[in-house]
Order: sequence, then structure tokens, then C-alpha cells
Amino acid sequence: MAVAAPGYPAYRNILQALGIECVSVPVGPASHWQLTVETLSAVDGHLDGVVVASPSNPTGSMLVDGQVPELARWCETQGIRLVSDEIYHGITFGHPAATAAGLDVAPHAIIINSFSKYYAMTGWRLGWMVMPDDLARSVECLAQNLFISPPTLSQVAAEAAFDCTHELEARVAGYKANRDILVAELPRAGFTKLAPSDGAFYLYADVSELTDDSPQFCARMLAEIGVACTPGVDFDPFEGKRTLRFSFAGSAAHMIEAAKRLKAWRR
Ligand SMILES: Cc1ncc(COP(=O)(O)O)c(C=O)c1O
Repeated sequence: MAVAAPGYPAYRNILQALGIECVSVPVGPASHWQLTVETLSAVDGHLDGVVVASPSNPTGSMLVDGQVPELARWCETQGIRLVSDEIYHGITFGHPAATAAGLDVAPHAIIINSFSKYYAMTGWRLGWMVMPDDLARSVECLAQNLFISPPTLSQVAAEAAFDCTHELEARVAGYKANRDILVAELPRAGFTKLAPSDGAFYLYADVSELTDDSPQFCARMLAEIGVACTPGVDFDPFEGKRTLRFSFAGSAAHMIEAAKRLKAWRR
């Protein structure tokens, strides 16, 4: 199963736990930090499937126009499974994210979503999958072993959350304002190479000019100025020592304060 590097670490860990070989495919500026037909075609050996996330964790990058159907068509032709993790849909700062759900060209795709991000209900443990009919029974059996049923209270709350568009959109506007603050300020603190944050609430930085030991760099940042970020080794087995991820899912005041401390720290 192919996953992007950098990518969400749980993909690798879950695939490993299930005994599925995980093929980490390097992505970067040339492919807009996403798995594309080009990057996948270059993989040596046979793939059984592909996991994509647009917007992505940790980069926030998105597949651009037409790339979702293109990927879906490619997977169909190869006879392999497309898994589209659409958990950050709704948190986008330009155009909306394209879904693989309901595409004629993606009859075998699995679509993953959750109330954790756009609906900000992370602790409520509720999500959903769109899958082809022939998988429904297997997933039902698996679910019986993993969690039996989604929490009833969470389902009631989630129904109410569908009616909170005004508040939810205000949150997205807040994430965008936070992103804009950091995109303007981080280069002044020496973080000049940032991946495009098209959505989600992350900024992924190439810090190769500042360190080749991102865990130590992040630990020092936390200890010395109280700013937490995630070292790239969590997301990328190849380049992770020279990258890190900032999250901006906080208040604007925290972004401004963090940027101020980072600038003083890097002076
Ligand atoms: C890309 C991606 N997929 C899935 C998840 C899992 O989210 P949850 O288990 O809260 O629905 C996360 C959480 O950070 C994520 O970033």
C-alpha cells in the first residue's frame, strides 16, 4: 500500500499492525507534496492500493483540479484500491477539496471522514466511511470487533453540529487568519521554506538550513521558549530529520506570541 512521505504516521503504523507492507513514496515541491499518477507510476514493484489525504497532514497541501478523478482512474486501471482520507475537507483556504465519493471513475474507492477536524469534535470518536457494497459486510464484521458501535451521545451531538455552519465557517476563517500570520512571520524567524498550506491547520517547514536533528531542535524550542512543534521524523522516514510541522489550530493571540518568541530565539 503506498502512502506519502511526509504523511500521517498512523497510516504506516496501522498498515504494519495489519501485516500490510507500507510503501512510503517521497513527495515534495515537484508534486505539490501529494501522491500523483506520476509519483506512483515511478514506484518500483506492485502496489495493492494507495492512501491519499487532501488536504494533507502534515503539509496542508491539496490535490489540484482534476487530480482526484485522475488518480481514481489510474487505480481502477491498475486494479488497485484507492483510499481517500478526506478528514480535512471543509478546512480549505482557496478552492474546496475534491471528493472521491460518488465518482463514476472510482467505484471501488474507500472514502474516510470524521467529525474530528472541520466539526472540531476530536474527542467524540465519530467518523464515517463511504465504501463499495461488496466491502460493507467485511467492514461491519471488523467494526464489531473494534468498537461495536459509535458512541450514542456523540451521534446526537454530531447531528446538531450539522446545523452549526455559521460557527464552523468562523473557525475556518480563524485558521486562515492564523495561517496568514505565520506565513508572514515565520520567514522572519528563519523558517523560509514552507510547504503550501492550502488547507488543514499545519505548516510544514524544511529546516535543513537550521538543523539536521529535528527532534533535538524541537525539544530545544519547547524547553527554551515554550513553543511546541512536531519533528518531521514523525511523518517522513527519509527527510524527517530536516523538517518540522507547526500547527495553527489555536488562537490568533497564540500565533502572534509564538512568532514573537521564535523571532527572538532565532536572532
Ligand atoms: C490525516 C488524518 N487522518 C486521520 C486522522 C484521525 O482522526 P480521528 O481518529 O480523530 O478521526 C487524523 C488525525 O490527526 C489525520 O490527521
